[in-house]
Amino acid sequence: MEFFYAKKPKGDVKMTILVTGGAGYIGSHTCLELLDAGYEVVVVDDLRNSDAESLNRVEQLTGKPITFYQFDARDEKKLDEVFTKHNISCVIHFAGLKAVGESVSIPLTYYHNNLVSTMALCAVMNKHNVNNFIFSSSATVYAQDNEMPLKEDGHLGCTNPYGWTKFMCEEILKDIAVAEPVFSVVLLRYFNPIGAHPSGMIGEDPAGIPNNLLPYITQTALGRLERLTVHGDDYDTKDGTGVRDYIHVVDLAKGHLKAVEYARKHQGCEAVNLGTGVGYSVLDILHAFESENDVKVPYVIGPRRPGDIATVYADPQKAKDMLGWEAELGIKDMVRDAWNWQKKNPQGYRKG
Ligand code: NAD
Ligand code: WQD
Repeated sequence: MEFFYAKKPKGDVKMTILVTGGAGYIGSHTCLELLDAGYEVVVVDDLRNSDAESLNRVEQLTGKPITFYQFDARDEKKLDEVFTKHNISCVIHFAGLKAVGESVSIPLTYYHNNLVSTMALCAVMNKHNVNNFIFSSSATVYAQDNEMPLKEDGHLGCTNPYGWTKFMCEEILKDIAVAEPVFSVVLLRYFNPIGAHPSGMIGEDPAGIPNNLLPYITQTALGRLERLTVHGDDYDTKDGTGVRDYIHVVDLAKGHLKAVEYARKHQGCEAVNLGTGVGYSVLDILHAFESENDVKVPYVIGPRRPGDIATVYADPQKAKDMLGWEAELGIKDMVRDAWNWQKKNPQGYRKG
């Protein structure tokens, strides 16, 4: 059976992009950039970790409509209906479960959700001759023995089920691209996305107590949480706290537009880091947040968090060379926009 046999669309026709997980944190920011750039946007999201209010706000900000379908992206029959109704040119697949700790407790849920949704999309794309696929991967696919900065050809290997779901999806997509040369896949390996749209109308809205640093800081600054625990100050870093490559979510969203343009014009499968290439420590972020926003964030130093490593940052050169993309926003923008969003939406979308 022939797979992905259609020719690529020619010319600059207005493209329709299917965004799975488009109501989520990175997805909503990407929908906004896509609409601003003139794309039509169709979102599939079952809202298990998001609220449709994010999409309402993207429509308000852009003055453009989004076609929204609320269902599970593993549902091939419903996906087929969407592909029949809309002339989809490219899929950006954000839909997935993403909490590292939770993935250790409920691995099957993670493997099923993240792998089956990816495979269902590929099957339906095949049926409808859609060949361009942008996948939300993660820096977590890199093994811990690599030297910094991380390059795309570094060793791969994971330490938790969430990471393995991303690794396995990457392998599936690489294999399909080998079998079907017309298939075009960009595996975007995100580093640490933080911040929010500068309007403060869309942002990160984690359910329950946040695991990630920035939402923990903003909720502590707000008084919803008592204090931040810095997970270890005895790493081999400049101040002993963990160093990461934080990237503004608006820069990250713009990287997806560059990937869509690239996928349209090329074939095969490429992995690309989306990071800044700059590492900041936990205390760098905390102090930048306090001074930029003129707020205090109470904190204590605690033990290391199991599974953490000292330092992670990207080599962003491939994104620059291949996609013509590089991060433009800095740490001050990230912490200012994160706080602006949280202040304006103290309870996030749901009750804010
Ligand atoms: P998010 O949880 O805010 O967004 C994911 C969206 O997908 C949510 O709206 C959720 O409701 C939806 N979803 C999940 N499973 C679904 C399914 N089976 N069918 C339909 N909808 C489903 O997460 P995010 O931070 O925006 O992350 C987006 C993607 O980027 C994820 O795949 C995540 O693994 C990946 N990623 C995130 C980070 C990060 O730090 N935020 C880093 C690297 C990679
Ligand atoms: C950042 C730094 C912590 C919380 C995770 C996933 C990764 C990717 C991005 C999806 C670390 C420290 C944190 C706190 C702290 N997601 N910290 N106190 O662990 O780098 O990456 O999100 O793909 O896969 O693992 O991000 O924000 O949790 O932590 O001191 O309350 O902040 O130890 O040094 P991480 P993070």
